[in-house]
Amino acid sequence: MIIFSQNMLIARAINELKAKKFTIGLVPTMGALHKGHLALVKKALNENDRVIVSIFVNPTQFDNKDDLKKYPRTLDEDTVLLKTVSKEKILVYAPTVEDIYEGNAVSQKFDFDGLEFEMEGKFRAGHFDGVGTIVKRFFEIIKPHRAYFGEKDFQQLAIIKKLVEKYNIPVKIIGCPIYRETNGLAMSSRNKRLKPEYKNTAPFIYKTLKVAKEKFGTKSANKVSEWVENEFAKHELLKLEYFIIADSKTLKPVKRKSNKKVYRAFIAAYADDIRLIDNIALN
Ligand code: PAJ
Repeated sequence: MIIFSQNMLIARAINELKAKKFTIGLVPTMGALHKGHLALVKKALNENDRVIVSIFVNPTQFDNKDDLKKYPRTLDEDTVLLKTVSKEKILVYAPTVEDIYEGNAVSQKFDFDGLEFEMEGKFRAGHFDGVGTIVKRFFEIIKPHRAYFGEKDFQQLAIIKKLVEKYNIPVKIIGCPIYRETNGLAMSSRNKRLKPEYKNTAPFIYKTLKVAKEKFGTKSANKVSEWVENEFAKHELLKLEYFIIADSKTLKPVKRKSNKKVYRAFIAAYADDIRLIDNIALN
């Protein structure tokens, strides 16, 4: 498996692949890979001749310096894991901050038609400008035919679709379902940092989402939100940051339920100092 650290070199390798009429899939990641990431890579391998997995902890999308510092960096383990999926068809792009940002690690400012002001955008200032900046840069360097993003970060997926639409970027964005531990906890690179008591209790987040989904069948969004907030208030270890039922297209909180709309419930909660997010389709 070839690991590239320079944009010029991976761009050249990709040009050679495209000259052979190979299709290229891109799976952008920040590393500390787990089965959730691998599910995206496997889907990309099924649908493309070659798959680029980028591994880059993007500084401009972190609103919290400590989170950036503590973010796990495990390139050796990551490549071992990727090799279990394919040795020949994956190219890893693990650039340095300098290679990507050329001495100017700042975000471009984006207008994502309001998607950026909801949920994560409210609680993580500048986060989606950082995500937009890095993903746009990857699209420019790699020019993939298809790019894969997880529904685990549903708002991010919506924002990338908007980015591609607004900038007319010729790439097909493919959303992939949330991959979970057997106990229901959505897989995340941050789970590795959970202390045992928090790891044991974190599946509460998905359990609560599932009950919220059931309740949404008969109750208003406000009533369901109240119930979730109460459940968390009683919980000794997990602290709720937000629970929101939103229109899955506009991501705006639902005011009055309509049969014609598709809704999703979103949650962010702290387990100790680790911020976990999850979501579920409601109808
Ligand atoms: P990261 O958190 O490493 O996630 C990389 C991709 O894997 C994202 O599309 C994310 O939604 C997906 N993913 C993570 N956990 C998942 C799970 N349990 N099930 C399904 N998909 C999952 O998201 C980022 O990195 C960054 O913001 C990035 C897009 C790479 C830009 O820096």
